[in-house]
Amino acid sequence: MAAAVASRVESLASSGIQLIPKEYVRPQEELTSMGNVFEEEKNLQGPQVPTIDLSQIEAEDTEVRDKCRDELKNAAMQWGVMHLVNHGIPVELIDRVKEAGQKFFDLPVEEKEKYANDQASGNIQGYGSKLANTASGSLEWEDYFFHTIFPEDKRDMSIWPKTPADYIPAVMEYAKRLRILVSKILSVLSLGLGLEEGRLEKEVGGMEELILQKKINYYPKCPQPELALGVEAHTDVSALTFILHNMVPGLQLFYEGKWITAKCVPDSIIMHIGDTIEILSNGKYKSILHRGLVNKEKVRISWAVFCEPPKEKIILKPLPETVSETRPPRYPPRTFAQHIQHKLFGKKEESPEDSKLQEVDESSSDTTKSSS
Ligand SMILES: [Fe+2]
Repeated sequence: MAAAVASRVESLASSGIQLIPKEYVRPQEELTSMGNVFEEEKNLQGPQVPTIDLSQIEAEDTEVRDKCRDELKNAAMQWGVMHLVNHGIPVELIDRVKEAGQKFFDLPVEEKEKYANDQASGNIQGYGSKLANTASGSLEWEDYFFHTIFPEDKRDMSIWPKTPADYIPAVMEYAKRLRILVSKILSVLSLGLGLEEGRLEKEVGGMEELILQKKINYYPKCPQPELALGVEAHTDVSALTFILHNMVPGLQLFYEGKWITAKCVPDSIIMHIGDTIEILSNGKYKSILHRGLVNKEKVRISWAVFCEPPKEKIILKPLPETVSETRPPRYPPRTFAQHIQHKLFGKKEESPEDSKLQEVDESSSDTTKSSS
């Protein structure tokens, strides 16, 4: 099918157009709070995405440790998204990961095309752009690079960028360090539900089966940012998502009925609770609706890592300990693959509580990756 070949947004943006093609114009009902993202970021009024300092997450002093863990737990329950600081991953390593990704995207489009994925034949790893298969039918103002980074035996090294030379060593080390952080976070979230420390880790597949997928999102400057989105509104299907960015604002969260623009917090990692944890916790932890704005002044780049359970091996459903007479299960049992399908082709007969998770999400292992 001819439609399987997507044009690169980067090429479109650098062609000098003043008006964006109609395929990128969002439906009228979506055009709320899509003003100037730099102005939005300066807005200090109203609720703000919490910043969680993880420096004491394993403190010996139990009081100090519990305070840190409670803050993380509460943020996961109230927001489902947070800026993590003092997360234990060295800033120098994060800088290397970002520099490597930036240098890859600095290559001419034709060089990057050598890594192009082929969504039509199911090869989703590599360089790509969104095809018009979302709920709205509109395209998103971004190109991306996507590949599996952990565990080692699930990596396809043939697709990893060979330029710049530091890409592979930097990303390998980052994956290893991030995986350690994932376990720590899952432990705290388990304890927060009154479960054994290792329970959520086990429920999402453990060291062998939880898959870390990296997606570099490249959002070129957009001549009409008030009409386009880098990523349309969705919740992540993952267990957890970790996002680095180049300090250009863009992420918006739908909190208490309003779109809130996330501030850029130096040396932080943005963490989302994904649908998988929301389901396992029977809705105690939230998978928040979010989207990505674009702007006409600066290129925005983000580096997302989606931590996903295996597609077929695990049935996701509220853990028995989270269910009671007063809190019946809010989600029907589904494999991860079924959950993704369900969201892509949202069925109308589900209960209202389930409707939030019907938003089309693209962080999953299909052809419609996204993040923010
Ligand atoms: Fe996302």
